[in-house]
Amino acid sequence: MALILGIETSCDETAAAVVVDGGDVRSNIVASQVDLHRKYGGVVPEIASRAHIERLDAVIEEALSEAGCAGHDLDAIAVTQGPGLVGALLIGVTAAKTLSWAWSKPLVAVDHIRAHACSPAIGLDRSPWPAVALIVSGGHTSLFQVNDPSSIERLGATTDDAAGEAFDKVASILGLEYPGGPAIDRIASNGNPKAVNFPRTMLAPDSLDFSFSGIKTSVLYHVHGQGQTTGGLEKLSGQALADIAASFQQAVVDVLVRKTMLAVARTGLSTVVLGGGVAANRTLRNTLATVCRNRKLEFHAAAMDYCTDNAAMIAALGFHSFRAGDLAGLDLDAYAISG
Ligand code: KG4
Ligand code: ZN
Repeated sequence: MALILGIETSCDETAAAVVVDGGDVRSNIVASQVDLHRKYGGVVPEIASRAHIERLDAVIEEALSEAGCAGHDLDAIAVTQGPGLVGALLIGVTAAKTLSWAWSKPLVAVDHIRAHACSPAIGLDRSPWPAVALIVSGGHTSLFQVNDPSSIERLGATTDDAAGEAFDKVASILGLEYPGGPAIDRIASNGNPKAVNFPRTMLAPDSLDFSFSGIKTSVLYHVHGQGQTTGGLEKLSGQALADIAASFQQAVVDVLVRKTMLAVARTGLSTVVLGGGVAANRTLRNTLATVCRNRKLEFHAAAMDYCTDNAAMIAALGFHSFRAGDLAGLDLDAYAISG
């Protein structure tokens, strides 16, 4: 039995978790900074770093105490190395190095996006691998072929905005509160997804890459008029806003689902998993589940607690690196962008 402490500070959630053998979550503590960033309409890197410094010790203590263990019980400490905000990542990396040194425990570096890719396996009673993984978050939109947690190949990625970024920017265009994804999800449930035919950008017919910057501009001009960037929002009724939100959401979901099915055809795999913050979106979860059922594919969406940023997924993937002997040294550095 291996007890791993996970630490996650890549963006605006300060998180720590204790996970046994990569799947049995004993604690999963997340201190969200949403309230600190809301008035700026997005994450302010400097504020995020400061908040991580202030909160991380207490979050780690809580994760250990809820799991009923102490530092000396751990087998390893896993930390998000990247991608993310470098200043924010360095708080977690420095804390993990310090604890690794102080407690004489091995240190494991974890890639945040690959941890999202493996998060749908947490809590399952059998391994879902090999699978096609659709990972949709605020910073990333990627398709992976996960052979097993130590063999993850990228099949495609966004060429511009991430899906979550598009949700957040469109929410801001529609005057909705930050963070935009949940706000759009909420009002879209009262809207008509066929009201506006927003573009479904597929790039080349066989491409597994994504592009979401065009749809954001389409929503902007739909609201304000072609070529205009202000003045239209006030004229829209609540129903019109809900219709735009539902139509935008449907266009994004259509692209994500079509590309995922293209990846299934390309790889010949028969299991699909879904993770990342946007995986919390009800229309995406339901549509992908239905499409997979119709095609007799096995489907697993990450549990809601493991969709948005969390440290359980870091400890879960960290376990596999630990078991493989893939350890980090005290010279571990953070990286902003995936290699
Ligand atoms: O994975 P995550 O917590 O952070 C990153 O690694 O980026 O994802 C955050 C993103 C935000 O863009 C947020 O708006 C989006 O996930 N999100 C949603 C929903 N809940 C969170 N997007 C659509 N529908 C939701 N229900
Ligand atoms: Zn994330």
